Amino acid sequence: MVQPRLQIIIGSTRPGRRGHAIASWFHAHALAHAGFAPELVDLAEIGLPLLDEPRPPQQGRYENEHTRRWSEIARAADAYVWVVPEYNHSYNAATKNALDYLAKEWVGKPVAFVGYGGVAAGARAVQALLPVVTSLGMVPAAHAVQMPSIRRSFTDDGTFEAAPGLQESATRVLDELRRLTVALSAAPGAVPLV
Ligand SMILES: Cc1cc2nc3c(=O)[nH]c(=O)nc-3n(C[C@H](O)[C@H](O)[C@H](O)COP(=O)(O)O)c2cc1C
Repeated sequence: MVQPRLQIIIGSTRPGRRGHAIASWFHAHALAHAGFAPELVDLAEIGLPLLDEPRPPQQGRYENEHTRRWSEIARAADAYVWVVPEYNHSYNAATKNALDYLAKEWVGKPVAFVGYGGVAAGARAVQALLPVVTSLGMVPAAHAVQMPSIRRSFTDDGTFEAAPGLQESATRVLDELRRLTVALSAAPGAVPLV
C-alpha cells in the first residue's frame, strides 16, 4: 500500500505561538515512524477569514478562492493530527473556524490530537473537539498526546524540548492512527488510498 498522507495541522495562529515548534517535533517523529507520508499544514499560512461562505459547506459549492484552496488541501489527506492549544478551557477559535469551513472533506477520515496547555495538558481542548469531529464524520483515535505546563518544555531561546514519555506517547498515537487509516480505507464507501 502507498503510504497514507498524514496532515499535521498547526491549530494555533497567533504570533509567538508554541504550536509551530510542537507540530514540527511531531512531524519529525512521524517521519521516523514511517507509517505515513507526513506533512505540516499551518492554519496561520492558510489565513482563513472567519467563515464567509454564503452556503452551508455540506453543499460543497464554495464561492471563495481561500475556501477552494483549503478544501483542496484537506481533501488530499488520508488522516489528520491536529495540534491544538487549550484556550479558556476549550480549543482555539482558528481550529473551529477551519473545521466549520468544510464538510465532505473530513468524512470517514481518522484524526488524532496533540493537545497542550497549562495544568490540564490541553485535555479540555481535546475533549471539546471530540463531539465536533465525530459530528463531521471523522473517526477520532482513542489516544492523544497531552502536554502539561507547556511553557516549561521551552528553553529561553524558544527551543522545544519534549518531556520524558512524549516520544512513546507519539508512537502510540501514530500506531493507532495507522491502524484506523488502513481499516477505514478498506471500509465500504470509503475512498481507497491510491
Ligand atoms: C487566550 C488564551 C487562553 C488560554 N487559556 C488556557 C486555559 O484555559 N487552560 C490552559 O491550560 N492554558 C491556557 N492558555 C495557555 C496556553 O495553552 C499556552 O499559552 C499555549 O502556549 C498556547 O498555545 P500557542 O502558544 O500555540 O498559541 C491560554 C492561552 C491563551 C493565549
